[in-house]
Amino acid sequence: MSTLTELLSRATAARAELLVRLAAEDTNCYRLFHGSVEGVSGLTVDRYGEQILVQSFHKPLSEEELAEVRGYYQATLPELALVYNDRSEANSRIRNALPLAEQAVAEQDVAIRENGVSFVYQARHKGQDPWLFLDLRAARRRVMQLSAGKSVLNLFAYTCGVGVAAAKAGASFVLNVDFSESSLSVGRANAKLNLVTTRPRCLHSDVFAALRQLSGIGQAERVRGKKMPPFPKLEARQFDLVFLDPPRYSKSPFGVVDLVNDYQALFKPALLTTAVGGMLVCCNNVAEVDGEAWLESLKRSAVKAGREVRSAEWIVPDADFPSGDGKPPLKTVLLHV
Ligand SMILES: C[S@@+](CC[C@H](N)C(=O)[O-])C[C@H]1O[C@@H](n2cnc3c(N)ncnc32)[C@H](O)[C@@H]1O
Repeated sequence: MSTLTELLSRATAARAELLVRLAAEDTNCYRLFHGSVEGVSGLTVDRYGEQILVQSFHKPLSEEELAEVRGYYQATLPELALVYNDRSEANSRIRNALPLAEQAVAEQDVAIRENGVSFVYQARHKGQDPWLFLDLRAARRRVMQLSAGKSVLNLFAYTCGVGVAAAKAGASFVLNVDFSESSLSVGRANAKLNLVTTRPRCLHSDVFAALRQLSGIGQAERVRGKKMPPFPKLEARQFDLVFLDPPRYSKSPFGVVDLVNDYQALFKPALLTTAVGGMLVCCNNVAEVDGEAWLESLKRSAVKAGREVRSAEWIVPDADFPSGDGKPPLKTVLLHV
């Protein structure tokens, strides 16, 4: 059996080439240890700029294990501060009090860099997830290559990472949509950090309500006799590039997001909101969903909606998110439609 130190050290060695490339493109946040594939299921270690974030998802690290992780990174990356967030139970992260010095580090706002774009980062904040999902880096990079002069719609925008990257790359108009005001406020801070000529718009709205209006399907004020909560009114319009990255499941008065059973409910209006000749990037992070079968279902839905998928390009996460079987849980496909 390998020791934890051996596994961490093997993961560092496996990233040697990638880290040189990431530094060259002005990126200082990446996954250092992807436990599910690299030997400790439920343990991840990420670098976010000047900090290291250790997270446990299945069970808390024992004191000895945490000391071993700390010891390894103190020896190899002594300039970085480390924060440990145990996420194995609801609220365990909050119950697990940090030493005072570490608490101060954890609540500090730091700027991190990815592909020359700045983002705000805080190791501990009110939400659970870090403010930048690192496995989406390859997709943000691809969006930056494609966005100059284009109008971009970023759905389920969270902290607007994709939208801010598109604006930085010269998009002519960017609209981020999410129903979490606190996530959008981080998105606004992200936009401010970057000197972008196009200030991305952050729309506080249910995605279903926004998409139905933008696509021209329309959002009724009452559905099956029930009055809908208030929602911002939008004119129908199409975008050159639409980015669709929903959570696995979420339910609101406007609809159910269910990536396993009903991706179509989102795909159809997202497709109708994409200009003919434009691009639609779709994500599905449910490990059990087979990529090829999912892509075939998207193509069939496109035909039903009277549109065509002209070509499809897979965007694979960078090598800091290795997958044992070549089938990464996060599937991202760029469709020319
Ligand atoms: C996994 S995150 C998306 C990550 C994001 N695409 C990124 O680039 O980091 C899911 C987001 O969907 C939002 N969300 C879930 N259901 C929604 C709905 N019906 N309408 C609007 N936002 C929703 C959540 O608030 C959350 O910010």
